[in-house]
Amino acid sequence: MTASKKTGGLAGVVAGTTALCTVGKEGAGLTYRGFDIYDLADNATFEEVAYLLLYGKLPKQKELAAYIARLKTLRGLPDELKAVLEMVPADAHPMDVLRTGVSVLGNIEQEGDFSNQEHVADRLLACLPSMLLYWHRFHTDGKRINVETDDDSVAGHFLHMLHDKPPPEMHQQCLATTLILYAEHEFNASTFTARVITGTLSDFHSAVTGAIGALRGPLHGGANEAAMELIQRFSSAQAAAVGVHKMLAEKEKIMGFGHRVYTTSDPRNSVNKKMSKALAKEAGNMQLYDISEAIEKVMWDEKKLFANADFFAASVYHFMGIPTYLFTPIFVCSRITGWSAHIMEQRANNKLIRPAADYVGPELQEWVPIDKR
Ligand code: COA
Repeated sequence: MTASKKTGGLAGVVAGTTALCTVGKEGAGLTYRGFDIYDLADNATFEEVAYLLLYGKLPKQKELAAYIARLKTLRGLPDELKAVLEMVPADAHPMDVLRTGVSVLGNIEQEGDFSNQEHVADRLLACLPSMLLYWHRFHTDGKRINVETDDDSVAGHFLHMLHDKPPPEMHQQCLATTLILYAEHEFNASTFTARVITGTLSDFHSAVTGAIGALRGPLHGGANEAAMELIQRFSSAQAAAVGVHKMLAEKEKIMGFGHRVYTTSDPRNSVNKKMSKALAKEAGNMQLYDISEAIEKVMWDEKKLFANADFFAASVYHFMGIPTYLFTPIFVCSRITGWSAHIMEQRANNKLIRPAADYVGPELQEWVPIDKR
């Protein structure tokens, strides 16, 4: 067997070191800088987690207050960027909108030398929701919204801009919890993309632009949107069970299930599932939750495949009135913290990332002139 067969998709290959995160290691399913994800989901705010990832330690009270205040000052968008967002077509995918938005911002607010990198990280964290919802509201309601709301949290800022009013506490908290769960995940495809781009000594915005492109696909972040579309195809738990059995028989992939690293469960799923149930109860309609549970049961019974972070995140977002096509962009608004931390970690000890390939093409051949082919 060739090396590439053994390591298809680089599965199991250790491609570098990180002090940011463990995935599926002994004892704890997921940790950020040594903190268990369940401790963070139960006790931290998303802004504390962002600070932990970006600045290497949990903030003290005063530091957190200053950080929240600072992020609030970084929410505004330059007029040139607003003009571009207004020109991007209404039917563009919002992931493409964010990809373009970050790239344009990199032209307007050029990074310059790397001494500014923490500022760029905070700026992107603060203004990604602004970009997304400025574009969304402009094209759906024809409104040029104020993106500089007074909400303390990223989750509150997001929901406020989406629904034009401060969000209910429960929704804000649930959204913030999903942001914590999505914030960081070691050498996943988009983070690795960001590190490869960073490894060439390119700029911050280029690395994030590339990462957004990688996250967009349904095998990665795009799975939360695909999961919602699947759940909404069915009108009852029974219909879902029948439908998913049929899909499996036809060898279709069920989005929101399985994982490259976890083998028996995704630790983030139980948290999302609990929130999905609570929000379904709040909405007074358990149908979508029951359908989701039925799909989960078939996947485990038939394939021993478990729901990953994306599956129940989908209904959590749906119950808050978030349109499906904004689900993967929410992942961006969270994972920007992990990407930024990895970009800075890569720069701190940089080495160009350039692996080798097993050649499987033809032997050396003689050149044939065009009239003799
Ligand atoms: N639905 C149905 N079958 C699945 C599956 C799914 N979601 N995930 C994996 N499998 C099956 C594959 O068909 C394959 O079966 P085979 O060996 O009979 O061909 C086997 O399990 C291994 O899957 P593979 O895709 O090769 O594993 P991977 O490590 O390359 O992929 C994922 C990991 C996440 C890409 C994969 O599980 C997947 O595509 N999941 C759906 C997309 C998703 O939810 N992505 C978000 C990840 S957090």
